[in-house]
Amino acid sequence: MLLCKSICASLAFTATVWAGRECKNSPESSTWPSSEDWLALNRSIGGVLIKTAPIASSCYPDNPFNSPENCSDITEKWSYAAYHSAWPESIDYPIYTNNSCVPKDATGYSKDKGCTVDGLPRYIVNATTEAHISKAMTWASRRDIRIVVKGTGHDLNGRSAGANALSIWTHNFKHIKHLHTWQIPGGNETANVLVCGSGNNWGSVYSAAHRSNRAVVGGEDSTVGLGGLIQNGGHGFLSSHYGLASDQVYQVTLITTDGRVLVANDMQNQDLFWAVRGGGGGQYGVVTEFVLKTYPIPQNVVMGGFSFWAAGSTNASEQASWDALSEIVASIPEVMDGGLNGNVTAYTKTRAMALGLSEAPVGVAAIVGLVGLNMTASHMDAVVHMLAAKIKDIDIGGDNHLNISYQSATDQSYWSFVKPEPLTSNSAGAVSLMTSRLMGRRELSDIPRSDLKTYLQQALVSQIPEAGTMLLFGLQGGRGPANVPSHMRGSVLPAWRSAYAHVFTLGASINATGDAKESLRAGASWYEAVKEPVWRNWAPNTGSYMNEGNPFSSTWKNDFYGVNYDKLLSIKRKYDPNESLFVWSGVGSDLWNNDLHTGLLCRVSAEN
Ligand SMILES: Cc1cc2nc3c(=O)[nH]c(=O)nc-3n(C[C@H](O)[C@H](O)[C@H](O)COP(=O)(O)OP(=O)(O)OC[C@H]3O[C@@H](n4cnc5c(N)ncnc54)[C@H](O)[C@@H]3O)c2cc1C
Ligand SMILES: *[C@@H]1O[C@H](CO)[C@@H](O)[C@H](O)[C@H]1NC(C)=O
Ligand SMILES: *[C@@H]1O[C@H](CO)[C@@H](O)[C@H](O)[C@H]1NC(C)=O
Ligand SMILES: *[C@@H]1O[C@H](CO)[C@@H](O)[C@H](O)[C@H]1NC(C)=O
Ligand SMILES: *[C@@H]1O[C@H](CO)[C@@H](O)[C@H](O)[C@H]1NC(C)=O
Ligand SMILES: *[C@@H]1O[C@H](CO)[C@@H](O)[C@H](O)[C@H]1NC(C)=O
Ligand SMILES: *[C@@H]1O[C@H](CO)[C@@H](O)[C@H](O)[C@H]1NC(C)=O
Ligand SMILES: *[C@@H]1O[C@H](CO)[C@@H](O)[C@H](O)[C@H]1NC(C)=O
Ligand SMILES: *[C@@H]1O[C@H](CO)[C@@H](O)[C@H](O)[C@H]1NC(C)=O
Ligand SMILES: *[C@@H]1O[C@H](CO)[C@@H](O)[C@H](O)[C@H]1NC(C)=O
Ligand SMILES: *[C@@H]1O[C@H](CO)[C@@H](O)[C@H](O)[C@H]1NC(C)=O
Ligand SMILES: *[C@@H]1O[C@H](CO)[C@@H](O)[C@H](O)[C@H]1NC(C)=O
Repeated sequence: MLLCKSICASLAFTATVWAGRECKNSPESSTWPSSEDWLALNRSIGGVLIKTAPIASSCYPDNPFNSPENCSDITEKWSYAAYHSAWPESIDYPIYTNNSCVPKDATGYSKDKGCTVDGLPRYIVNATTEAHISKAMTWASRRDIRIVVKGTGHDLNGRSAGANALSIWTHNFKHIKHLHTWQIPGGNETANVLVCGSGNNWGSVYSAAHRSNRAVVGGEDSTVGLGGLIQNGGHGFLSSHYGLASDQVYQVTLITTDGRVLVANDMQNQDLFWAVRGGGGGQYGVVTEFVLKTYPIPQNVVMGGFSFWAAGSTNASEQASWDALSEIVASIPEVMDGGLNGNVTAYTKTRAMALGLSEAPVGVAAIVGLVGLNMTASHMDAVVHMLAAKIKDIDIGGDNHLNISYQSATDQSYWSFVKPEPLTSNSAGAVSLMTSRLMGRRELSDIPRSDLKTYLQQALVSQIPEAGTMLLFGLQGGRGPANVPSHMRGSVLPAWRSAYAHVFTLGASINATGDAKESLRAGASWYEAVKEPVWRNWAPNTGSYMNEGNPFSSTWKNDFYGVNYDKLLSIKRKYDPNESLFVWSGVGSDLWNNDLHTGLLCRVSAEN
């Protein structure tokens, strides 16, 4: 367990004796800059420094931080991911800020807690120029102040916030330019690209691409940002065709903690260029611009699928549902080689009512949602019926034990999948902690069905059994990542090249109103005891997608970075020598103890 070693017990000692050296700087330390120093920084960056003022402050007596928003508005919008993007300090999953200032009745709110900035960055740079970032990071790094980077704040493990930090907010790097013939550095070829500021989200990038009649590889949710998605890999609607988002980058502009503004591509700063293409966001510097490859708009987009669940409540029905899920999962590589993507989502107990059932069925229920490009509706229907035929006749004792509901294939436009959604999608404001694994042909198709069935049952365990849980196979690998030419591959986990599906599941029951550190530790311990061993048995040689994974897994180095770990660590040390940039499960993060309870980030001392 990385969350808190025995060092936690001696933190008070650590803080007073070694403040500013063993621990990152904090307001309790004598080396913390004075208000005048902060004012001087503010002046040197044209007045763009913000003193952190949590937006939900108006939900507390006397509105201690003078929030301009009214509390009922905040409470209503707290579950909208886009809402958190709009504020300099706010992040989607506030447990990673120690629930520092949560609006009334939202997840993590407790009446007596009050509203503080203790688990949040202290100051935020509302950067609009590279010079703002360069000056502010040099200033902070020299003073041993932790630096965090926030694009949208969507990170599922709160990696865009940090107590006592100076935050670099990239939100206003919003330029987008389409160039038909951009000269690829070092070659004679040109590429059709979008040059994008890192503060854009996929909604604005997809819209800009669409205006130029082009497509780009990004995420599925329009409110997710470029910065974290690309640097950690990034899958989406087109990844199974063209590779990950990090495979589409020709060049980045990045600012290091010592203030250098570097252009990185195949001809210069190649190590950095390699690292930021999949080796982790918020770790090597701040990216201000990406140059991204574009593609023609996909044609003949068709959608189809089916769902299935146990027809009765007998053991035979229950077994049939698990056999059916195993059969479908084993077919994923074949389906994807046929040009389809989408997802297979399995649910147990009450979660299975997501299928529209009035009662929770026994066993497991699943929705198979498929999308094809360059495909006719009748071809999609044929694939769906071929798949359903594999489970229709699963027969344990003669009766029909499964109910199947078909969704007939429909023609769609590519735009209908990528167009920005209303900004009211409800994904934020909750507790987020998941665990995931990449699965290739070996793990899906080439193992005995009975083993597959057992792994699926184990992976779908829930800490509160009657609540059930969910597990999603995202069909985002396959030919796309496998066929990316080697020069376009950065440091993304090599297991992606042979993966078909990225599988994630939930199931830990986390006490949202408890002490954030203890609650996360308990959830992470449950995963470590119950779910991580399943992945390690089922898929010992793959790994996990860093953006949607468990940062507290005891094998995170191997899970997220694989053979690239040591090289990434040396690049990190070269460009961030003072280790100003810390994120959970970042390279070298094991040398630090990030304590949500004290707010201190301290070196794990040698004796621990
Ligand atoms: C609703 C929702 C839907 C999602 N859908 C998908 C999906 O379809 N596909 C997918 O692959 N993932 C998906 N994710 C996961 C997503 O990729 C991660 O949450 C990712 O970290 C978001 O990046 P961001 O820049 O928006 O978020 P942030 O929280 O702002 O940043 C994430 C990390 O990247 C760093 N970072 C951000 N910008 C920069 C920058 N310019 N320079 C340096 N570091 C930076 C931050 O420090 C942080 O460590 C989804 C997440 C959510 C909440
Ligand atoms: C920085 O300066 C601007 C402009 O003078 C001011 O509005 C802002 O409040 C200052 N920020 C801080 C943290 O003092
Ligand atoms: C909050 O603002 C909304 C409009 O944005 C308004 O309708 C509502 O009455 C306000 N509520 C309070 C308590 O002021
Ligand atoms: C950040 O800067 C932008 C551009 O100058 C400005 O429009 C915006 O109001 C600023 N935001 C905050 C919270 O200060
Ligand atoms: C690292 O910190 C030291 C002081 O602690 C400072 O002198 C040095 O300039 C810093 N280096 C960088 C790259 O910020
Ligand atoms: C670019 O073109 C020139 C002249 O046609 C040729 O000499 C050179 O080798 C080419 N460079 C690359 C990298 O292909
Ligand atoms: C399965 O379908 C049959 C026939 O439509 C229906 O009677 C039965 O209630 C369904 N079972 C479940 C668990 O939905
Ligand atoms: C349910 O069926 C499975 C597989 O046929 C069998 O192994 C198991 O013992 C049965 N359980 C019960 C409670 O009958
Ligand atoms: C799963 O696929 C369906 C249908 O293609 C899509 O609407 C949905 O957004 C996908 N869900 C996730 C989490 O990818
Ligand atoms: C669709 O077909 C066209 C023409 O054959 C091809 O150029 C394109 O790459 C295909 N698109 C995908 C996503 O496979
Ligand atoms: C959650 O934590 C709080 C505070 O420690 C405690 O009072 C409460 O009983 C806990 N809830 C559960 C379900 O454990
Ligand atoms: C974190 O929250 C706990 C209460 O849940 C509180 O005791 C502690 O002081 C907080 N620490 C910080 C740094 O906010």
